[in-house]
Amino acid sequence: MPIKEIDLFSKQFHQNPYEYYKDIRPHHAFAKVRMFEGHNSSWLAFTYEAAEKVLRDERFIKDMRTVFPGEITDANVPPIGQSMLFVDPPDHRRLRNLVAKGFAPKKIKALSGRIEEIAKEEAQRMGRNKDVDFIEDYAFPIPIRVICELLGVPSEDQHLFQRWSKVLVDIVTEEQYEQSMIEFMAYLESLIHQRRSEPKEDLLTDLILAEEEGERLSVRELYGVVMLLIVAGHETTVNLIANGLLALLTHPEQAQLLKEEPERMGQAIEEFLRYNGPVEFSTDRWARESFTFMGQRVEKGDHVIVSLASADHDSEEFEKPEQFDIKREKSPHLAFGKGIHYCLGAPLARLEAEIAMRVLLEQFPNIRLAVDLSELEWRQSFIIRGLKRFPIKLTSL
Ligand code: HEM
Repeated sequence: MPIKEIDLFSKQFHQNPYEYYKDIRPHHAFAKVRMFEGHNSSWLAFTYEAAEKVLRDERFIKDMRTVFPGEITDANVPPIGQSMLFVDPPDHRRLRNLVAKGFAPKKIKALSGRIEEIAKEEAQRMGRNKDVDFIEDYAFPIPIRVICELLGVPSEDQHLFQRWSKVLVDIVTEEQYEQSMIEFMAYLESLIHQRRSEPKEDLLTDLILAEEEGERLSVRELYGVVMLLIVAGHETTVNLIANGLLALLTHPEQAQLLKEEPERMGQAIEEFLRYNGPVEFSTDRWARESFTFMGQRVEKGDHVIVSLASADHDSEEFEKPEQFDIKREKSPHLAFGKGIHYCLGAPLARLEAEIAMRVLLEQFPNIRLAVDLSELEWRQSFIIRGLKRFPIKLTSL
């Protein structure tokens, strides 16, 4: 199927992108696609091989200030654009190292008990609701509460973070975006000021105190990393939990297997990530120079993205990729990316998903869809693969 005939951001495409990807991959490993009317074409990596190569190739860079000097400067890049996900070495290493200390495996593991308490509270709360939207009532509150506690955001302010992070990922007007960013920055400024004088046992305090080669994070970099952690930390995990439940509800024999062999939960999470992961596309990359890549001429400044979802359904890499199989032994999926920008929050996301799913299945073993499968609608997003609403019934048939 010629790519120009596919509208990659249409409703139809989002309802089942894997069908389209299957037809595209044999003809286009790495291809130029016009994503929107009136926009220049972008390169898209569709096969596993192309995806991995793009993510590992240091000629595809992230920092727009390097790619478009003069046009894009410190002054017009928002703080989140100056966080590790949008910069290149050596800044990337410096920023990631500072934050990595707060995500050390020991620190994440120590959160298990608290995550379980939160999951149980949310399960109880959801159980009292008549009409349940699984996303709003369970999958969303768990990761946002965890990341806010980890950072050290006062619990009474969590609803503000929820509102501001929505503005960062949803399509909103420029005015709404700017207003929210002003509020977000003012809030962070006062919180950081307060925390400097009264340090606590939280990531925000660690970040404030962190020093690398004698250099502290600047306040602007602090804003950037806090914003990144909030957005990356909850939009993604929400949809890992929700897409995972959907996979189980639509594959009852796999759900049964998981009930009989709950020790497979870790494997099941890996399959949720591969089969219908929450991050469909990578973030933007740009060609630092002109060169030939997989037989194609890429020009300096060209825009490149990777379809992680397509790569993770490539039959060259995965046996029967269209099958949801929690017994899959080898799964080198790209759901968390690859290379230097590999997801820093992967251990936290895995832990949250394992606990959230275990608590859910223990407390509501007869969970089922409350609407016909055909009524479920997928969000139209540049990055996230998630349902708009996910109505479920918690009681037995
Ligand atoms: C299931 C949940 C998650 C998925 C699927 C996911 C996926 C990803 C992917 C694909 C990237 C790389 C993007 C690219 O190279 O263009 C990334 C980067 C990142 N993620 Fe996650 N993420 C998840 C959860 C989290 C959580 C819970 C956190 C932290 C609280 C987090 C923090 C980050 C950070 C800081 C980066 C940037 C790393 C760097 O640039 O070095 N993510 N994530």
